[in-house]
Amino acid sequence: MLRSHRASRLVRALPSTRRAAHDLTVLPSKPVISYGPAGRSAVSGHVATVFGATGFLGRYLIAKLAKGGTQVIVPFREEDEARHLRVTGDLGQIVPLEWDLRNEEQIRECVRHSDIVYNLVGRDYETKNFDYQSVHVKGAELIAQICAESPSVSRFVHVSHLNASVDSPSAFYRTKALGEEKVKKAFPNATIVRPGPMYGHEDKLLNNMAIWPILWKLNHGETQISPVHVFDVAQALAILQASAPLPKTLSLPGPTSYTYESIMNLIQNLTYNAPSRAPTVPKPVALLLARAAQLVWWPTLSPDEVERRYLSDVKVPGDWESLGIVPDELEHVAINYVRRYRSAANFAKPVEPRPHKAAGSYHVTE
Ligand SMILES: NC(=O)c1ccc[n+]([C@@H]2O[C@H](COP(=O)([O-])OP(=O)(O)OC[C@H]3O[C@@H](n4cnc5c(N)ncnc54)[C@H](OP(=O)(O)O)[C@@H]3O)[C@@H](O)[C@H]2O)c1
Repeated sequence: MLRSHRASRLVRALPSTRRAAHDLTVLPSKPVISYGPAGRSAVSGHVATVFGATGFLGRYLIAKLAKGGTQVIVPFREEDEARHLRVTGDLGQIVPLEWDLRNEEQIRECVRHSDIVYNLVGRDYETKNFDYQSVHVKGAELIAQICAESPSVSRFVHVSHLNASVDSPSAFYRTKALGEEKVKKAFPNATIVRPGPMYGHEDKLLNNMAIWPILWKLNHGETQISPVHVFDVAQALAILQASAPLPKTLSLPGPTSYTYESIMNLIQNLTYNAPSRAPTVPKPVALLLARAAQLVWWPTLSPDEVERRYLSDVKVPGDWESLGIVPDELEHVAINYVRRYRSAANFAKPVEPRPHKAAGSYHVTE
């Protein structure tokens, strides 16, 4: 009697041993049963493949998936680029696999056991081996086709861009839109996610503005964008793993629209650095310089990126509410990412913006 009383107390103390209806998800391909303690040592029962895992967004998505107990297949091209991801999950939860975007067998191997596949592959600039077409269109189509043929994969999430449009003057945005079409054709139930420009520790937005302000003065800094926190986009993608049925398209712009100039003002005020005196370069000159810079072998501002600096983000309402996410305001979190650009004397100073420019005055009001 005493023993059974003790045993029942033990069962009550270990909630992980209890089973509830929400522990079972029945996917078209297989039933998924979650078990184990909450957190890092949990087992969600899901297996996810994240193509483009080694990029900026990839690390945050993988950390969120692995923290919830999902086993994550991490395709990599360069082993060192995936090394930092191993520690984001418990032992055995992160499985790096070598792949090439043109190798069907390797892609098939990467998705063999997964029930959800994320495609985060994208490139801001073209290289000798991979132009926009081969990465955003052909590559996306091949991955979607292989996922559609795979018996285990029931969900496919493709990350595109807020400004993807077949009519865009930018080849990057055009190929992103063409890629979406190919993906929808190959995997009709695919979810297309369209984030705005993302910021975070490793971004190419705030860091680049702080280091190269001259490159953001194109168009007199008047181009308007809706920057979004990379954490919020990763959270949205991670939520999709558990939601069924998945939405068809998700637009994820940041909550507020800013001009480049207002973001640079924000950075200057937060870093206590003097405003840049760099001149505004006319577009034809910027295009000429960008074309000349293509002769070097390291990535530089490409002519297509110059074109994009003149294109404001499309104004669409974000689908945040349906996901239960309240996206962060840039002004509230930017200090975390730009403090490193303060001088040693100013490093520990308080965060409040200087009185002559209140935080609220940075954003563009319509
Ligand atoms: N960053 C933004 O502000 C932003 C905004 C909206 C949408 N997006 C889209 O969101 C996705 C993720 O963005 P991100 O900022 O994380 O991009 P990122 O840091 O540039 O990472 C891109 C990823 O794609 C992989 N990749 C690129 N070309 C490849 C190729 N030819 N073969 C195989 N893998 C290749 C890279 O692998 P390697 O490490 O091996 O190069 C890397 O893992 C992209 O599709 C991007 O277009 C980004």
